[in-house]
Amino acid sequence: MNTFKAVQVTEDVWWVGAIDWNIRDFHGYQTRRGSTYNAYLILADKITLIDTVKAPFREEMMARIASIVDPGKIQYIVSNHSEMDHSGSLPEVVAAVNPQKVFASAVGAKTLKELLPLDREITAVKDGETLSLGNRSLTFMETRMLHWPDSMFSYLNEEQILYSQDAFGMHFASLERFADECDPAILAFEAATYFANIILPYSALVLKLIGRVTAAKLSFRIIAPDHGPIWRQETGGIISSYAKWAAQKPEAKAVVVYATMWHSTEKMARVLSEGLAAGGLSVKLMSMDEVHRSDVVYELLGAGVLAVGSPTLNNHLLPNMADILMYLKGLKPRNLIGAAFGSYGWSGEAVKEIEEILAEMKVEKAGEGIRVKNVPDAGILARCYELGKEMAERVGSRL
Ligand code: FEO
Repeated sequence: MNTFKAVQVTEDVWWVGAIDWNIRDFHGYQTRRGSTYNAYLILADKITLIDTVKAPFREEMMARIASIVDPGKIQYIVSNHSEMDHSGSLPEVVAAVNPQKVFASAVGAKTLKELLPLDREITAVKDGETLSLGNRSLTFMETRMLHWPDSMFSYLNEEQILYSQDAFGMHFASLERFADECDPAILAFEAATYFANIILPYSALVLKLIGRVTAAKLSFRIIAPDHGPIWRQETGGIISSYAKWAAQKPEAKAVVVYATMWHSTEKMARVLSEGLAAGGLSVKLMSMDEVHRSDVVYELLGAGVLAVGSPTLNNHLLPNMADILMYLKGLKPRNLIGAAFGSYGWSGEAVKEIEEILAEMKVEKAGEGIRVKNVPDAGILARCYELGKEMAERVGSRL
């Protein structure tokens, strides 16, 4: 008995992906709710498979396909994104199905060959090109660096379905296939966390793409991403959220990230947070001994302040502070005001190191970093409080 079934999206479009309930890490991004690898089957005259799944999930996908059609009848495969969570099973699927053609963007055609043992020609499609599936047609849109150089969208014209690969997705394993069947609070959190941890560095490209789509007056009845639920009601909501997150306009919000050895840096962090709150900001105080780096980036969406504290260990930052700062540097959050602080026992290099990294991240320096030998006294804590208030005022003037 075939226990994996396809899920109907429209009359001729089916979800045939796989559910990864157990994945908890995507290159440093903690995926607490697992994920899905979405693939879609279009039962057009030319039966077409959009994307495949991560290699270990091939049998699940093939079983879902077989629940509605003989997989040997698939004539076209389109790879919207060559990253292996969507292409890992492609060599075996191509061998099993023997499609007439496999399509990808020009960069994707090269990248698939570099990543996978594919002894099959990949047909490169151009930006704006339309492929006839007989009674249906797909138009391709290059979305380079969203989030890989090969990435593209495919648009099923007659049904107004956007296959958006990683964009507009989330890491959320569920048997509910549609966003309108899921808890909106979970969707809001997971979509924002996904944007922050994956899409954020490409914010400028997101804004450009949204502008392009708006200018083209394309309507999306359904947005079918490669991870998480399918959007079939109010598809404008997730697009508006992307526009807002990508704009990175600061709001009245601050994030204070720190680690501590004997609670001195923690005291400074707490007092600095009081100052930020007294200045009118909502504050997230996050100890890297307790939270995951993915959650810090989530909280930074819409923040105007990033304050960072670390003691000095062996002439450097604490290792978990180096971790979060390198992660943040790569994700390129913008429009932040920042400051560094920390206690030390004898040499005290950490504050300077933080300041250097914040400068590389283009975080605007609010004031001199606050360093204290051993335990902060009332005077140092008063400076922390004032620094928090000053930063809040500077953010306030930008709102
Ligand atoms: Fe879901 Fe960039 O792969």
